[in-house]
Amino acid sequence: MNSVDLITEDKSFMQEYTLSEITNKVVWGNALALLPRLEAECADMVFIDPPYFLQLPNKELRRWNVKTVVEGVNDEWDKFSSFQQYDEFIQKLLTEVKRVMKPKATIWVISTYHSVFRIGKIMQDLGFWILNNVIWVKTNPMPNWLGVRFTNATETLIWAVKDKSAKKYTFNKDNAKLFGLGKVGANVWTLPLCSGKERLKDKEGKKLHSTQKPAELLKRVILTSTKEGDLILDPVAGTGTTGCVAKALGRNFIMIEANRKYVQGIAERFNNTPAVYNFT
Ligand SMILES: C[S@@+](CC[C@H](N)C(=O)[O-])C[C@H]1O[C@@H](n2cnc3c(N)ncnc32)[C@H](O)[C@@H]1O
Repeated sequence: MNSVDLITEDKSFMQEYTLSEITNKVVWGNALALLPRLEAECADMVFIDPPYFLQLPNKELRRWNVKTVVEGVNDEWDKFSSFQQYDEFIQKLLTEVKRVMKPKATIWVISTYHSVFRIGKIMQDLGFWILNNVIWVKTNPMPNWLGVRFTNATETLIWAVKDKSAKKYTFNKDNAKLFGLGKVGANVWTLPLCSGKERLKDKEGKKLHSTQKPAELLKRVILTSTKEGDLILDPVAGTGTTGCVAKALGRNFIMIEANRKYVQGIAERFNNTPAVYNFT
């Protein structure tokens, strides 16, 4: 698939998109502006990995015993002026996403302790019904260099339906058992951070994106909560992990990403996918 077929630029704030125009595309644009122009009740599943609002200090963070600088998430897209502004962003995003979810669709939202509790509250206030939280335990977490608190080795995925009345949503329990902890397949997934060949790099060989999620994580999300041919929406797509894995697993996708640099990265990634996403 070449980038002309894959990427669409959201140029007009008037244009309403039909599903055929936008399915299996990455739209370069602002999700908050675009989602209201998308057909209602079209998505079978939504995956959202929103900004974390990490609030890192503006100074460099250095490891206590070496001179290297800690690589955190210090991108412009992660900056908000206050919790209120962050909450408003999350609330608008989730409100629009809820409108485009089919009645039996499910939604996954991933975050760290910095914001996951706020997101959970906002979801409940908007009427989403939380089915589970899944804890992702990282086998290779970034150490707590200053030694002042526990090493943070987990992220939380909230899995929910639109409202309490949604019953016959997709849940592939055999896959859930396969991926989850222990014989019962509990809600704990153990897998490493994205690294090595899988990690997208820029021209200088640095990470293209600070929070690229592992394909294995999306594989688990998609195989437990969708069927082949389903339409998966990721409105804050980053490096496009959701769409790449969706395609490899025979699902359809719509991705939206505001940052041109990442959109370009997604196009390149789609041209180089087979080795990394050849799931068996
Ligand atoms: C945590 S990252 C997603 C990473 C992604 N899951 C991956 O595997 O690469 C969040 C992304 O949301 C994008 N973003 C933030 N606000 C946005 C908006 N209003 N519309 C579209 N994308 C947005 C940022 O540019 C960033 O790439």
